[in-house]
Amino acid sequence: MTQGQGTVSWMREIQLAPPPVTTNGSVVSPEKYHIDILDNGRTISDFIDYKIKERGLLDNEEPFHVANLDSILKRHHRWITNLPRVKPFYAVKCNNTAAVLRMMNVLDTGFDCASKGEIQMMLSLGVTPEKIIYAHTAKPMSHIRYACAHGVDKLTFDNEDELLKISLCHPKAKLVLRIAVDDSKSLVRLNSKFGASLESVGKLLERAGELDLEVIGVSFHVGSGCTDGGAFRQAIADARRVFDMGNLQGFQMRLLDIGGGFSGAGDLKGKFEEFSEVINGALDEFFPSDSGVKIIAEPGRFYMESVFTLAMNIIAKRVVLEDMDGHDDGEEDSPDRMMMYYLNDGMYGSISCVTYDTAHNSVEPYPHRVNTTCCGFYLSLFVQAVESSERRYRSVLFGPTCNSNDKITEDYWMPECHVGDWLLIDNMGAYSVSVFTDFNGFERAHIYPVVTAETWHALNLSHFYNIC
Ligand SMILES: Cc1ncc(COP(=O)(O)O)c(C=O)c1O
Repeated sequence: MTQGQGTVSWMREIQLAPPPVTTNGSVVSPEKYHIDILDNGRTISDFIDYKIKERGLLDNEEPFHVANLDSILKRHHRWITNLPRVKPFYAVKCNNTAAVLRMMNVLDTGFDCASKGEIQMMLSLGVTPEKIIYAHTAKPMSHIRYACAHGVDKLTFDNEDELLKISLCHPKAKLVLRIAVDDSKSLVRLNSKFGASLESVGKLLERAGELDLEVIGVSFHVGSGCTDGGAFRQAIADARRVFDMGNLQGFQMRLLDIGGGFSGAGDLKGKFEEFSEVINGALDEFFPSDSGVKIIAEPGRFYMESVFTLAMNIIAKRVVLEDMDGHDDGEEDSPDRMMMYYLNDGMYGSISCVTYDTAHNSVEPYPHRVNTTCCGFYLSLFVQAVESSERRYRSVLFGPTCNSNDKITEDYWMPECHVGDWLLIDNMGAYSVSVFTDFNGFERAHIYPVVTAETWHALNLSHFYNIC
């Protein structure tokens, strides 16, 4: 059975247009172009239950993500309500799933691209070049030439060699000078790798002038997973100084890019609103509305973190009897049993964020429970929550590869599970699917984009998803 056959009536699946193909003939996105629409008040949770049930019938235990497109809409609403002066240029690197990128395009955001591949992908989805900023300060020359040939003019830089490369490959570029700012309050720091020091910007602006290049503004990134809004205020004040220097050098400084660093989940849940107040205050002070300066940002995590839920299957299990006080009787309900579970996605797949993304260095998998006993018919499924009284065991969760570093979590207390059970992890949208490797030959978890019927119709998504 192919995907979508045999779906129940409340859930319509639509086959989207075939993936776009680049000029050299390669398909730009590996994702299958399907989207599921939730009718009649059915929820993401219903959809996950359905997919797990379907997998059971198909003898298929492959892991999968559900991408909740409504969550993007909610985040966007939060963005425009709190930061009305700041136009988001979504950071494609955070999650490059085509359905997600299309959704951002529907919402009329711009896009921060880090490479030729990302620019190619956005252009193939119909995004116009002026909605793209090539926001990487260490660019291969062939990628700069590609940007030039395709009308992508906004490029960032932070050093003299980059200016020389740009003068050769894209002399008409509109340059944005990335400055290093205080990132000490962020979970992922970027300034050891990128950003010109304030001391060096005078010289750089002068050099840009000598090379007959045009500088139009300033960008910064306070670091991903920022915990202190004060970092934005200081960075905006620093940017003002650089604007003044640029204007003095004869450039028409007109673009401020306040980067990424925003989050709206977990420990940083309420921080976005708090930061917005600080940012709005600093913008009014240093870049008032009548200054004519356009303000953009490059949010990634903020838009994507809550969009994806990962479903993984327990493919193997070992029960280890721990020797406590020399007592090892192997009793079924002995308190010293430790569970080792082997899942079919892990640190080299969708959960690499635990290794690479300091802002997301732990995950909390929970068992998926569905009761089917009352009636064999799918619509009668209901999800059982884990009872607080339920006994929990110390557990170690491993990914599927042969590497022992492929450990998702240890000292994790959860109810006993069995081979074939499913575990879910929420908030898996940021820096997860875009950092996947196929180490040991394990396949990429399939992505099911899902949207409610209300959102589908309200945003007229059939038009944007090329469905006739
Ligand atoms: C240049 C640039 N812009 C934007 C982002 C997105 O940051 P975040 O996901 O914290 O919003 C990153 C992340 O590394 C980045 O390097």
